[in-house]
Amino acid sequence: MAQAGKSTESESSMESVLTENRHFPPPAAFAKQAHIGSIEKYEEMHKRSVEDSEGFWSEVADELHWFKKWDTVLEWNLPDAKWFVGGKTNICYNCIDRQIDDGLGDHTAIVWEGEPIQDQDGGHAGGEPEIRKLTYNDLKREVSRFANALKNLGVKKGDVVTIYMPMVPELAIAMLACARIGAPHSIIFGGFSASAIRDRVEDGKSNIVITADGGWRRGKAVPLKDNVDEALTLTDLVKTVVVLERCQNDINMVEGRDHWWEDITATASEHCEAEPMDAEDLLFILYTSGSTGKPKGIMHTTGGYMVYTYLTSKYTFDLHPENNDMYWCTADIGWITGHSYIVYGLLPNRVPTLMYEGAPDAPDKDRFWDIIERHKVTKFYTAPTAIRAFMKWGREHIDKHDLSSLNVLGTVGEPINPEAWMWYHEVIGNEKCPIVDTWWQTETGGHMLTPLPGATTTTPGSCTKPFFGIDAAVVNSEGEPVGENEGGILVIRKPWPSMLRGVYGNRERFIDTYWSKVEGYYTAGDGARKDEHGNFWIMGRIDDVIVVAGHNLGTMEVESALVSHDAVAEAAVVGFPHDIKGTGIAAFVTLVGGIEETDELKKQVRDHVAKELGPISKPDKLQFTPALPKTRSGKIMRRLLRDIAAGREISGDITTLEDKSIVEKLQQQAD
Ligand code: WT7
Repeated sequence: MAQAGKSTESESSMESVLTENRHFPPPAAFAKQAHIGSIEKYEEMHKRSVEDSEGFWSEVADELHWFKKWDTVLEWNLPDAKWFVGGKTNICYNCIDRQIDDGLGDHTAIVWEGEPIQDQDGGHAGGEPEIRKLTYNDLKREVSRFANALKNLGVKKGDVVTIYMPMVPELAIAMLACARIGAPHSIIFGGFSASAIRDRVEDGKSNIVITADGGWRRGKAVPLKDNVDEALTLTDLVKTVVVLERCQNDINMVEGRDHWWEDITATASEHCEAEPMDAEDLLFILYTSGSTGKPKGIMHTTGGYMVYTYLTSKYTFDLHPENNDMYWCTADIGWITGHSYIVYGLLPNRVPTLMYEGAPDAPDKDRFWDIIERHKVTKFYTAPTAIRAFMKWGREHIDKHDLSSLNVLGTVGEPINPEAWMWYHEVIGNEKCPIVDTWWQTETGGHMLTPLPGATTTTPGSCTKPFFGIDAAVVNSEGEPVGENEGGILVIRKPWPSMLRGVYGNRERFIDTYWSKVEGYYTAGDGARKDEHGNFWIMGRIDDVIVVAGHNLGTMEVESALVSHDAVAEAAVVGFPHDIKGTGIAAFVTLVGGIEETDELKKQVRDHVAKELGPISKPDKLQFTPALPKTRSGKIMRRLLRDIAAGREISGDITTLEDKSIVEKLQQQAD
């Protein structure tokens, strides 16, 4: 099926690009049963969806429940979009009640697995995992009770509710309850610290926090409530805290402020009508960190977000409730991936969504594969950073399990190196599962560039083509499309239903960040190129493109070339000031387990890049490191590496860094 090999563009080219000749058409049997089963169908629908965007989206919206139909599909006043204007709906109703109305109340909505594997004494040795399944009826009851409990605590439509919880069903219940009564939520990832909570609570002017005593991570209770307590010594905005009991770790309850989840729901009614919301009412705020400055509160509203996440879920993963699909996204709900593709886009599609509480290596490195085997997962969605960790851990953990239930594999969060893509395809997908490399952002709400598994011929490292309704292009700063395979700025030229509606409380930042780089178009901040097949390749953040001796190099391609060396597990590349070239290339590399760090190997790895991409791309410096500095969402913090490579003090905020000790180690080793 695949053609082997990759080759290098001629050196005279302005850009050095990794040319990828491996192409994987959708398996015929898969295409036959898929919603979108051929590239012709994709093209025809895509054309229509862009030319008659309003007609297209109104037909999709019609598949869902509205209390009142919209008057106008789109009002576009650059950069402000209003979708389904005049329409009244409720996303919680569409996630739950709509299924019950259609007689599916006893079907499974959420399957949850906790981290601890317990034996009879509650220990962790070889026992049964803790599993809960909630039907749509269960979910409606629990969500309604919690919604009423919130109302009893004084929460009203429009109040921002902060949620800081572990990956337990109550997290989904809390967000759906907020949506049911029209209180926008602001979810904070459970890995963040007290100061992150303070910043977000203050920015969102939120006076209620929902949390838990703790959440399990590698056998330890993450002290969520302690973090909230610490945050609340830094701000006096919060008047009410709701605490779910999960780990029974020791916590402090403040009289009058703190309430147990169990207590407030025990007395609450299990009937709560879903509030008819304006299509443009705020659904949630979710903070995303920029490379500079404070995190931005990205705003998403009700109707457009609902319609777009519903359709992308359905088509990107080719969901079929009638085929016993079991869908698992390994992200935390605290990220946009979890908002859109664990909860809001999934539930209206009537396919069970699996939630897992803990770490991929707890109690063992085969935990994910064990979960897939036991729950017969059919669609699996994870991140390149996780895939590279699995590669490093070795395939013996995978070979122990039967993964034959899988039929679509997804990735998101950063560019996937061709090497990791091939491993995912061969080792996890057994060469039979289409891979959907989905490019999108917190700001876009849903998938923007992605293969459709029954239609798109995939190629390792490319996120392929725009989703329906998306008019994507690679342009120069004047907004003119650049040539084939030429690097440029990735823009979206037309509004789409789930686009961000603003940065909470900061109009200027909204305009500056997204609407000022190229006149009239949404700029994502990513660099990209489009190849001769019309496939998009993300080259990295625009800030990460390095210009070496007049050549534009995407850090991504140098990193992919590094990772394609057998000894290399992970790599990050940045520019640094260089006397002769202006900018030099510095590479930071982690090795596959057990391989020794020698100067000879450094040389080999550098030469390998020169061979793959041409001498211009050969790293000037290469440093081995046991790990790369990453944010808690798994993104490499290149800005820190730039400081280290330049021999500068670290500048800017590092509160989102996962392991601060890595930075010290790198600074000590730097030459
Ligand atoms: C940035 C957005 C979207 C949910 C998770 C991250 C990078 C994301 C891909 C991909 C290449 C990707 C981009 C983007 N990114 N997916 N498939 N290929 N790059 O959300 O934290 O808002 O980050 O992640 O740079 O702009 P986010």
